[in-house]
Amino acid sequence: MTLQASAQGLNRFQDIRFGMFIHWGPSAIPARHDWIMAAEAIAVPDYEQFAYGFNPTRFNADEWVSIAADAGQKYLVFTSRHHDGFSMYDTALSDYKVTRATFGRDPVRELADAAARRSDIKLGFYSSLLDWHHPAYRFRHESGLAWSDYLDFLHGQVRELCTNYGEIACMWFDGDWPRGNQFEVYPYFRPGGSFEYDRLYDLIHTLQPQAVVINNRHDDPLPGEDVQNFEQDLPGMNTVDFNTTYVSPLPLEVCMTINDHWFYIEGSRNHKSTRALAHYLVRSASAGANYLLNVGPNAEGVINPIHARRLREIGEWLKTNGESIYGTRKGVIPPTAFSVSTRRADTHYLHLLDDQSDAPTISGVPETVRQAHLLRDGSAVMIERQADRLTLFLAEDQRDPIDTVVVLT
Ligand code: GLC
Repeated sequence: MTLQASAQGLNRFQDIRFGMFIHWGPSAIPARHDWIMAAEAIAVPDYEQFAYGFNPTRFNADEWVSIAADAGQKYLVFTSRHHDGFSMYDTALSDYKVTRATFGRDPVRELADAAARRSDIKLGFYSSLLDWHHPAYRFRHESGLAWSDYLDFLHGQVRELCTNYGEIACMWFDGDWPRGNQFEVYPYFRPGGSFEYDRLYDLIHTLQPQAVVINNRHDDPLPGEDVQNFEQDLPGMNTVDFNTTYVSPLPLEVCMTINDHWFYIEGSRNHKSTRALAHYLVRSASAGANYLLNVGPNAEGVINPIHARRLREIGEWLKTNGESIYGTRKGVIPPTAFSVSTRRADTHYLHLLDDQSDAPTISGVPETVRQAHLLRDGSAVMIERQADRLTLFLAEDQRDPIDTVVVLT
């Protein structure tokens, strides 16, 4: 039997549209590479040394959650265990965990408590399928352990995450990339067998019927996956060369970095502008996708202030324009070079992303549309229709430097 998330859970996930991805762990200490353990071939004992020294004394879960809330983000996806195998919560299934490090606290517990204090934010978990530390994954040939020992660990951790921290938004998997060539570069990435997804997904859907299952496989979704994810790309675009161009009828999600990295990397400065990030959110929504935007807090536990500021600026825009994002579905008005649309039933939100002219013309506007007004302040927008072509006459003070949203009813 393959279960799915409940209809309510699927709808809720699509309605919330904007989330915060958080990549955090001991690799923020050297802060040189997202995959530093693999890329620099750091031996397990050497990596363990600084992992156990992890001590982010400035970590404040309420602060992170408040940045997300100010940004208008409605869910958090946190790395419970990344590929380095270090559990960022108090798992009973391993001693290689944050509560055994100098830090001694459980950030997942603190994040779950901080999220529970608010009604508008849900916590979800990233879990790596790949493990560069576990004796039954990486070292099964030497350790005498079997692949099934790793499966017990992986499935057991998922059970913990679905049991110990209240109601969650999602389980988000990563590290199984069937279309990639990672085994040529890193042979020990190769799993020792199947991840037994049917059993894994059923476990989640049984314990957390509202939570959605997402697996970042860069490939067509498997049975039991509720959402198709696109990494660093809008749905179907594959500008990064590792995504599939196939867009399934499932709910969608785009995950993306603000700079060029998932984790905190010293000296990283290529931060996307507030406007570019807001446009990705709008373009995701217009394609029927959530936008999961990543921050990589540093080894002290602080989110880059530039990222926090840009997130809050997106939140400011959402305060007056959120109606055109939350609870909407894929737009039906064909996109142009300067516009996209979202929709809620017969209400269409036209997003003018680039200020092209005072009287832009849009084709393919549904027949039901008779009137137009600016979402921000309700002011009327004059329109002229010719067949399915609609010309809008915008006053100068009606423009928004990020995205001018016109409501068509
Ligand atoms: C890629 C990266 C991984 C990261 C993930 C987030 O799969 O390899 O490190 O966690 O993207 O989407």
